[in-house]
Amino acid sequence: MFGLGPIGCSIARLAMTRNSQIEIVGAVDSNAKLIGKDLGDILGQEKTGIKIQRNGKALYKNADIVLHATTSFLASAKSQLLEFCRYGLDVVSTCEELAYPWYDNRLIAEEIDFAAKMNNVTLLGTGVNPGFVLDALAVTLSGVCENVSEIRATRILDAAKRRLPFQSKVGIGLSQEKFKQKVKSGNFGHIGLPESIAMTSAAMGMDVDRIDERIYPKIATSSVKTKHFGVVRKGKVIGLVQDAHAYSKSKRIATYHIEMYAGAKDPYDEIELIGVPNISLRIPSGTPGDIATAAIVVNSVPRVVESRSGLMTVKDLRPASSLFTTS
Ligand SMILES: NC(=O)c1ccc[n+]([C@@H]2O[C@H](COP(=O)([O-])OP(=O)(O)OC[C@H]3O[C@@H](n4cnc5c(N)ncnc54)[C@H](OP(=O)(O)O)[C@@H]3O)[C@@H](O)[C@H]2O)c1
Repeated sequence: MFGLGPIGCSIARLAMTRNSQIEIVGAVDSNAKLIGKDLGDILGQEKTGIKIQRNGKALYKNADIVLHATTSFLASAKSQLLEFCRYGLDVVSTCEELAYPWYDNRLIAEEIDFAAKMNNVTLLGTGVNPGFVLDALAVTLSGVCENVSEIRATRILDAAKRRLPFQSKVGIGLSQEKFKQKVKSGNFGHIGLPESIAMTSAAMGMDVDRIDERIYPKIATSSVKTKHFGVVRKGKVIGLVQDAHAYSKSKRIATYHIEMYAGAKDPYDEIELIGVPNISLRIPSGTPGDIATAAIVVNSVPRVVESRSGLMTVKDLRPASSLFTTS
């Protein structure tokens, strides 16, 4: 386990239930408050005998695969990922920019892919999104179309009860001015929309020339209760709206729209493919992000272990599947 924030902890809890497939042999996190603690204490479970370490080097010789959940950004994750490659470890990561780095981060993607192949390991970036709703699902749906000329995707979710890092990344509680500054300074909002679009298009043989992305604040029209920011008053930011449009040879080929804010009514995920035939799929209530991310990471472990080496994306592997349970 590498990274034990809320998502890393959810992954670890689920991984521990898969004891016929997965044994956790070590845990790493840079947070000083976690180092030296027993993994079980952090997960709110029985002691495991596994102490959180600042550095993974002493653990790697006992490991086969790293479940990685530290950052959204490839530039930050790169040194960690290259280290895993050098130590011969497969990787499943929630790093959004790793999900499909071939559009925006091609040089880093090539470097990681080369290191993976040299060391005979496989890396995969996945999660609820990118990794499933706005890409893998769209790609799978397209399998019943003779052709597709445009993709439209919408994801509306209620951020009121989500984990703290999620509520922060969508700007809950900010003033409108502070929100604008954060958008301007970059690396804010949902990370991974261009990755989802570029991966989906690439799977259908279409290169994207340009992706325009815009982020707007969603403003409270009355007080809204949130899990980590208390009551957010009228006029303050309760989340965001993010739009991305992709073009190929000046033609618009994808329109992605997401709304992530506290108090969103009737959340849903929807994929629409314009083609022969037109096809659409709506998931009422949407896909619960934190559960889904931990599940798809753990469910991807067998796919990564059985894969050929290199930097893979979810479009390259057999879809992850869950375990059937009768209880
Ligand atoms: N693809 C998807 O669909 C999806 C879905 C959910 C989450 N995610 C992403 O998954 C990541 C984890 O989510 P989260 O909410 O758990 O984030 P988080 O609260 O930021 O947790 C990350 C943890 O990793 C630690 N860390 C950071 N850099 C490290 C390093 N170099 N070595 C060891 N530990 C390090 C952090 O420690 P410090 O506190 O010391 O920094 C923190 O404890 C985020 O980037 C999130 O955006 C992706």
